[in-house]
Amino acid sequence: MATNRTFTMLKPDSVEKGYIGAILEKINAAGFRIVAMKMTHMTTADAQEFYAVHNERPFYGELVEYMTRGPIVAAILEKENAVDDFRALIGATNPADAAEGTIRKLYAASMGENAVHGSDSDENAAIEGFFHFSGRDQF
Ligand code: CMP
Repeated sequence: MATNRTFTMLKPDSVEKGYIGAILEKINAAGFRIVAMKMTHMTTADAQEFYAVHNERPFYGELVEYMTRGPIVAAILEKENAVDDFRALIGATNPADAAEGTIRKLYAASMGENAVHGSDSDENAAIEGFFHFSGRDQF
């Protein structure tokens, strides 16, 4: 299996509740190497663009408000089979459906406020990583 990369955000609810350390610990313990990381506060325009694929969905406005209400931690992670393994580690979008021991089961409150993002494909991992990290960052 090839080593590759995924992109994650610890969302505003994780930061507000003081879960950054606990979630990073789970990420490290699962064998991911953090190759880039920063705390940042998305603007409304940033969040609208990042989630443009959802702009017709009824929850889009709520999603943009949530993702801009406080800082997030954005990171690029490396591991064999990174995209699929990270999605397994975070669990289902709705924490009520997430498997025991997954990050969303442990730390997410609801479908909307689900603690953490994980890219759904190698292609989106690259797009989302470049959205948050510039060509001047070395990773
Ligand atoms: P994520 O899968 O990381 O990216 C899209 C986000 O939209 C998702 O996490 C949730 O935060 C949010 N989302 C998805 N489905 C719903 C829904 N039915 N209601 C509210 N928010 C949602």
